[in-house]
Amino acid sequence: EKNGFDHFMLKEIYEQPKAITDTYRGRMLVEQGLIKMAGVDDNLEKFLNAKRIVIVACGTSWHAGLVAEYIFEDLARIPVEVEYASEFRYRNPVIDKDDVLIAISQSGETADTMAAIKLAKQKGAFVFGVCNVVGSSISRETHAGAYTHAGPEIGVASTKAFTTQITVLSLIALKLAKAKGTINNTDFHYYLQELEIIPDKITKALESNEHIKAVAEKYKESANFLYLGRGFNFPVALEGALKLKEISYIHAEGYPAAEMKHGPIALIDEQMPVVVIATKKGHYDKVVSNIQEIKSRKGKIIGIVTEGDENVRELADYVIEIPDSTEAFTPLLTTIPLQLLSYHIAVMLGKNVDQPRNLAKSVTVE
Ligand code: F6R
Repeated sequence: EKNGFDHFMLKEIYEQPKAITDTYRGRMLVEQGLIKMAGVDDNLEKFLNAKRIVIVACGTSWHAGLVAEYIFEDLARIPVEVEYASEFRYRNPVIDKDDVLIAISQSGETADTMAAIKLAKQKGAFVFGVCNVVGSSISRETHAGAYTHAGPEIGVASTKAFTTQITVLSLIALKLAKAKGTINNTDFHYYLQELEIIPDKITKALESNEHIKAVAEKYKESANFLYLGRGFNFPVALEGALKLKEISYIHAEGYPAAEMKHGPIALIDEQMPVVVIATKKGHYDKVVSNIQEIKSRKGKIIGIVTEGDENVRELADYVIEIPDSTEAFTPLLTTIPLQLLSYHIAVMLGKNVDQPRNLAKSVTVE
């Protein structure tokens, strides 16, 4: 059932082009310029009248929420807050009927996320679920929702759930942006076309697998890793670090690149690999200066770059290329090499990739 792959995690990484296609199939009608999602259509007024959207989740799903914050605010101009469900539930949150709460959960069973939903419902908020497991507790407790349709995720480290969560949330953001008129028809069409070809671009990104193995071989003995990204790719840096921690047990931290100089730069020496997401978008020039700062302190640089990039290639020890895309969707691509890097390091270190120590696939106790 691993379909020829050594581990479920690797199989699930490779399933992402199909999983994302399954997520948008039947919902995104590119020719007609339409996004159909029953859970959103039936509650459109609630979304459009929302003063803000509060997203609650844990772990990787929380990282998907952070990516969604950038996408919702950029496209639909709705204020978004993203909270750890475990913090939200215990801090007497300010939330009421004018808020929409989106709960994200692969398993649909996470205890803290469930408790956050119940609290938000008590306070009158409209609660929308983004789950993968059909019929799960969270999908039943929410007022409405949208499944990710990623198929079963067996590996404890979440991979295809993350990218399909971002896909669902992007569809919702685009739908609201169109309804609110915060993007024009031309741009709306452009985004649909860009999202439609993401699966092919992921297939392309997966072709770097052998090269990524060489990078893994080079740095697998490191005691620490830093991951840096900005804008839409800041949450991807957090997710890259989490993936490495979970399955290889190497200490890793993710940071917004510009925060480096406020502390973490003190950690940089010749022993420190720094994975920098430096796609040719947004804050590219600023990220390149961060790379120069790391280099002058002898840190090792692994750049995740847009194909054809020359600047970062000159500075970095290794670069891993991903296809170009519109900035909002780059997280769906930059995530891929980070998943593969963690996977190969963990395998090389002889760790139990699919069932890392101390972790469970669904966290049903707080
Ligand atoms: C990371 C991971 C966990 C989960 C978290 C939330 O690889 O698996 O961090 O993302 O426990 O789980 P769900 O999404 O099922 O609520």
